Amino acid sequence: MQYFSTSALKQFEMFKIAAVGLLIISSNILSSGYKFPDGFMFGASTAAYQIEGGWNEDGKGVNIWDHLTHLRPELIRDHSNGDVACDSYHKYKEDVALAKDLNLQFYRFSISWSRIAPSGEVHKLNPEGIAYYNRLIDELIANDIVPLVTMYHWDIPQYLQDLGGWVNPIMSDYFKEYARVLFSYYGDRVKWWITFNEPMETSKAYSFNGYAPYLHLNNTGYYLAGHTQLIAHSKVYHLYNDEFKDKQQGKISLSLNGVFFIPKDEQSQDDINTAERANQFERGWFSHPVYKGDYPPVMRQWVDKKSKKEGRPWSTLPTFTKKEIELLKGTADFYALNHYSTRMVTHGSDPNPNYNPDAEYATFVDKSWPTSVASWLIVVPEGLKRLLVWIKNEYDNPPVIITENGFADNGTLNDFERISYVKSHLNATLQAIFEDKCNVFGYTVWSLLDNFEWMDGYAYHFGLVHVDFNNPLTPRTLKASYQFFKNVVATHRLDDSSFTTQSPEL
Ligand SMILES: *[C@@H]1O[C@H](CO)[C@@H](O)[C@H](O)[C@H]1NC(C)=O
Ligand SMILES: *[C@@H]1O[C@H](CO)[C@@H](O)[C@H](O)[C@H]1NC(C)=O
Ligand SMILES: *[C@@H]1O[C@H](CO)[C@@H](O)[C@H](O)[C@H]1NC(C)=O
Repeated sequence: MQYFSTSALKQFEMFKIAAVGLLIISSNILSSGYKFPDGFMFGASTAAYQIEGGWNEDGKGVNIWDHLTHLRPELIRDHSNGDVACDSYHKYKEDVALAKDLNLQFYRFSISWSRIAPSGEVHKLNPEGIAYYNRLIDELIANDIVPLVTMYHWDIPQYLQDLGGWVNPIMSDYFKEYARVLFSYYGDRVKWWITFNEPMETSKAYSFNGYAPYLHLNNTGYYLAGHTQLIAHSKVYHLYNDEFKDKQQGKISLSLNGVFFIPKDEQSQDDINTAERANQFERGWFSHPVYKGDYPPVMRQWVDKKSKKEGRPWSTLPTFTKKEIELLKGTADFYALNHYSTRMVTHGSDPNPNYNPDAEYATFVDKSWPTSVASWLIVVPEGLKRLLVWIKNEYDNPPVIITENGFADNGTLNDFERISYVKSHLNATLQAIFEDKCNVFGYTVWSLLDNFEWMDGYAYHFGLVHVDFNNPLTPRTLKASYQFFKNVVATHRLDDSSFTTQSPEL
């Protein structure tokens, strides 16, 4: 507690003593009364560029987000950047204290590659960058919080980007050597590793969506960037297996995101096929190779067919060699699931480039689905339950940890919509565990803190904790959802009617 800023403490007291206008969060919508299993792990997630700041401190090199936000500030909704962000580079003890106060079993954070190796090449390491993550890891362990570490959360060093970035196959070797450094320095204490966060989003940064490195290489760049990341993942998995695992006894996976697609007409075989195809292009793209060895057959067929029709000499979707397929198969020790939203689909084409035209589907939303400030984040908890069942059926019921799930709003402290979102998605998780026998062992809320939300800058908020980005001291203030989540972690239940919080009227 001593690490909390005064305002956070004050807010905390406010919540505790607020006697007027108490709102009992309705428990009648919770049909189940299920309790999370004893060993179920709760955590919160962040990413280096989104929270650290200290962008040029202590020998850190420039990465693609530093580069893009400085060169093209107009691309970011509020023309902001992550130069300071939550200043977690200096305030990590305060962040860990928040995680501790929430009683989290684990904290998911990412390591900034250019802090470890300024250019990305490992012959020149940055001891001060390495020391920072040693301090963070030690602080977590001193507080009994398990570190769950993402090696790459979208921030490749600019020098490696200038060499082509993820569309250059050589990056898989650069990434492997970077991973070797992380295992060597941190593997004695870190037992949970995520190689890539959302490789599909990194691939979109090469094709259309505006993320750094802000390239517009259409589906050729999209599939090449994905291919390199998959090969890189398999190399790191085997590096760990061959040289570190015996001694360090950790686990490795990659965090895979995706919208879940459901048939527009649940009775229509064509819509059912379209939804399945859309899911294979979205989630199967990375999941199928690491569980089964190669791209999903439907993706192979449809992209090959389209490339042929376009008169290309080869398919835009690269091909794995037999050896690469062997090396990819079985490289997820657990399924790390990022999920936010669901769409209905039917055969057709969609104006939104987020939906891969090669898969030929058009998306729809049900008018009854609640929305958020982020147009892409429509609230469909039932979709998470169905996705968990899909993963169970598709990959032989692997152990699943939800590594991201959360809600975007305008930053209000009375974030009842966030509470409702997290609550309904935890409910969907419980339903999947108890009704459908899905093997889900943990849940990570995105995010511990409000932070730099990529192209949306500081306009959209995801935190359980508010950060005042206009104040150079970046004070943290607890939101209503923080108290809600703390209660869930403490009771392992959603339907604790004793849980109360401040009413929105106050
Ligand atoms: C990329 O896609 C756009 C939109 O379909 C098209 O206009 C452009 O020519 C494509 N670029 C290349 C290099 O194929
Ligand atoms: C933010 O959202 C909350 C909840 O939807 C709303 O009550 C509040 O008026 C909004 N605040 C601003 C500044 O838009
Ligand atoms: C919990 O899930 C069940 C089954 O899907 C559903 O009927 C119920 O409305 C859900 N409750 C909440 C709060 O989402």
